[in-house]
Amino acid sequence: MPDWKVHRAPTIQTELTVPGDKSISHRSVMLAAMSNGPCVIRGFLPSEDCLCSAAAMRALGVKIEQPEPETLIVHGTRRKFTVPEHDIDCGNSGTTMRLLCGILAGQPFRTRLVGDASLSKRPMKRVIEPLTQMGASIRAEGANDRPPLVIEGGPLKPIHFFSPVASAQVKSAVLLAGMFASGKTVVTEPIQSRDHTERMLEYFLVRPVKEDLTVSLYGGQTPESRDFQVPGDISSAAFWLVAAAAQPGAHLLVRDVGLNDTRTGILGVLVRMGAGVREVHKNDEAEPIGSIEIRGDRLKGTTIAGKEIPNVIDELPIIAVAGALAHGKTVIADAGELRVKETDRLAAIATNLRAMGAQVSETEDGLEIMGGAPLHGARLQSFGDHRIAMAFAIAGLFAEGETIIEDTDCVATSYPGFADMLEKIMHEPKSPQVPVITGLPA
Ligand code: S3P
Repeated sequence: MPDWKVHRAPTIQTELTVPGDKSISHRSVMLAAMSNGPCVIRGFLPSEDCLCSAAAMRALGVKIEQPEPETLIVHGTRRKFTVPEHDIDCGNSGTTMRLLCGILAGQPFRTRLVGDASLSKRPMKRVIEPLTQMGASIRAEGANDRPPLVIEGGPLKPIHFFSPVASAQVKSAVLLAGMFASGKTVVTEPIQSRDHTERMLEYFLVRPVKEDLTVSLYGGQTPESRDFQVPGDISSAAFWLVAAAAQPGAHLLVRDVGLNDTRTGILGVLVRMGAGVREVHKNDEAEPIGSIEIRGDRLKGTTIAGKEIPNVIDELPIIAVAGALAHGKTVIADAGELRVKETDRLAAIATNLRAMGAQVSETEDGLEIMGGAPLHGARLQSFGDHRIAMAFAIAGLFAEGETIIEDTDCVATSYPGFADMLEKIMHEPKSPQVPVITGLPA
């Protein structure tokens, strides 16, 4: 993909939708594959990461049709999988690899999971430890428990796992393994992380029990096949939410987006920063879906730390950009997890913000940004990380002169249509159908 060239955009007054939620798309194909019949999944995100999860389930013997890019028909195999003929390639996707570890821990065969250069540097001990306690054998071929992973699954015993990290991937891996264990598997996390796995298990009529930070389920249950609608991804919407929030006079409506309150932390952050934010729920079957309306303003700095971090973990790159555009200081703390994402996101954000003229200091687990200084265009790297590429494309909309984002192929992992929407925002920031948005549908 060519470099992106970004320049200042006129005031945004538009409505848009975003593609399906990445986290939910992964889970939908895995749980449907475990179910007892066909499930039609609509709104599936056909991005590289989620297609890796679909390909993995196919490699395990699951028939999956894709009549349209965003529709999958998954023929559940009642939790029975077949030995894959080759290694399973998880690409760039940590969610694919970690959640698959949970499923494969309970299978009576050996599987090897591989990933790209970035995934091969990501920590896997966090899933290896609990799954080993449950009885699986997982050998990491990379140094320090890094992929490739060779998994020898088998009969599992239930455990109560106290996760040291607030990670939905870890929680989900243990719960998925728990589906194959004999008895009650329990996971307690230190801070609430996204609860899509628990909700989807419930939707597929497996009964997890949730109590504060603890989730438990009994193994041996087969999910009941049901059709499923994936909502738009609030983490993809976040880029446009910030683009509008930081522009006085801007007005944006994002429709049909996921409003799960373990993911909407960005809205609270934008309210504290001074934007006008309204959220209207339309539907709440497996996952709440609705609209978000944003009115832009002069933003002010804020602090994001502690319990709020897991809720905004994927939005921190674009929140840091909002911090650079805001007046005053923005502090991000307790976010050491950003160092082990697709790249070291704290280092990548600090490098790129500095290149645009912002004043930033990097701490061990966060950033301090002195906002308000005018940003200037620069030639920036994505560091092979989709969210860094997109966050800095948005920064470029506010900079004096041209910003070039290099190495943008990585965006295909989560938001294949981002570049088209960016062009639209730069050249047609007013939607012809909705010149002025006066209200939201009930
Ligand atoms: C995800 C959980 C988060 C998030 C990632 C997707 C998921 O990772 O950053 O993009 O789908 O469960 P961690 O579980 O490592 O926090």
